[in-house]
Amino acid sequence: MNAPDGRTAPATVCRWAVAGCGWVARDHFLPGLLAAAAGRSGGTVPRLVAVTDPDPAAAARLAVRAPGARTAPGLDALLAVHRPDAVYVATPNHLHRPAAAAAAAAGAAVLCEKPLAADLADAERLADACRRAGVLAATAYDQRFHPAHRAVREAVASGALGTVTAVRITYCCWLPPAWSPDGRPYDNWRADPARAGGGAALDLAPHGLDLTGVLLGGDDVTELTAQVQHRVHPYPVDDGAVLAGRTGGGVLVCLHVAYNTPDALPRRRLEVVGTLGQLTAVDTLGQDAGGRLWLTGARTARRVPVPFDTGTSPFAVQVREFSSAAVAVRAGRPVRRAWPWPLQRDLALHRLLLEALSRVRPAPSPSPVEEGRR
Ligand SMILES: NC(=O)c1ccc[n+]([C@@H]2O[C@H](COP(=O)([O-])OP(=O)(O)OC[C@H]3O[C@@H](n4cnc5c(N)ncnc54)[C@H](O)[C@@H]3O)[C@@H](O)[C@H]2O)c1
Repeated sequence: MNAPDGRTAPATVCRWAVAGCGWVARDHFLPGLLAAAAGRSGGTVPRLVAVTDPDPAAAARLAVRAPGARTAPGLDALLAVHRPDAVYVATPNHLHRPAAAAAAAAGAAVLCEKPLAADLADAERLADACRRAGVLAATAYDQRFHPAHRAVREAVASGALGTVTAVRITYCCWLPPAWSPDGRPYDNWRADPARAGGGAALDLAPHGLDLTGVLLGGDDVTELTAQVQHRVHPYPVDDGAVLAGRTGGGVLVCLHVAYNTPDALPRRRLEVVGTLGQLTAVDTLGQDAGGRLWLTGARTARRVPVPFDTGTSPFAVQVREFSSAAVAVRAGRPVRRAWPWPLQRDLALHRLLLEALSRVRPAPSPSPVEEGRR
């Protein structure tokens, strides 16, 4: 960015804090922030100033990797002392609301991990607290920012697929009861309905529901049904689900999400089907850069690779764009003009998913099939 006299304009710093220093904050958000900050001499530069976690070792592991970042004994103390511009909320799901509400009340922009909350009432209270505080608040749907998905969005908008008829998403993983992100002893809250709010469906389907509307230029899913299974793992939350939906514009949507798919199997695939062609993305859903994307022409049946930036992580783009929006809102820009995805829209998708899951009939055989018996 150049000043009128031709010199590089000074950078504006977006001062970030993190509440919840576990797996996603450490392995994905922080590297994304550092990558977004690297080499930027103008525009908005994100900088991590403070972190908090009830586990001091987790907080220290994060802070040590961010030059100048401090640890704080709790979020209230962090907000009072460090007065961050933006707070990334990456606690277990049932703790998103109190952290987001405290950050918003202190005037910080809120980037809250998905799902918005463990239940609907808490998600509504979270959104209400952010709206009343007048701060920028968003769900951390990093997959919106994956360069391959941006290429898909542009191809759809250009009409290259003709009339889009369907979006099909497979987003699965392996999550046994004693799962740990890094081999350390771990309290697997994802298997606890009270803290997670649900299983594979609530954890993984929000990405696909968000992404569908983003890829289709705002044509969001408005109708949704679900089937879940408790098939492999002996915990009380579902370990697999299929969801079938339709967007307001009439595009059919299928999502398969699971905790019971071994990681070595093909398990991350996105297809957008149209009358002129189909875009297929493999290994782009998730937190990392890379993957493959190709277009299959309806007349030729040929697969043509679609180029995209394979070196930039979706978290880096997310931090960069949220930082710019947070600084713009702080400077007086209306929230609705600084950020294209209102939190109320994310809340509507959260409501749609929870309502679909509330209509699920109990599986005929509630006990999981033991590994090895099939
Ligand atoms: N966008 C993505 O791709 C993605 C990926 C993984 C996780 N997530 C989401 O991020 C959130 C965190 O997931 P995770 O895998 O990092 O979990 P995790 O268990 O690894 O980390 C959670 C951390 O929060 C801390 N914590 C607990 N109570 C807290 C409080 N009151 N204040 C501050 N910190 C607190 C815990 O001590 C822990 O260190 C979840 O909501 C999850 O759904 C999103």
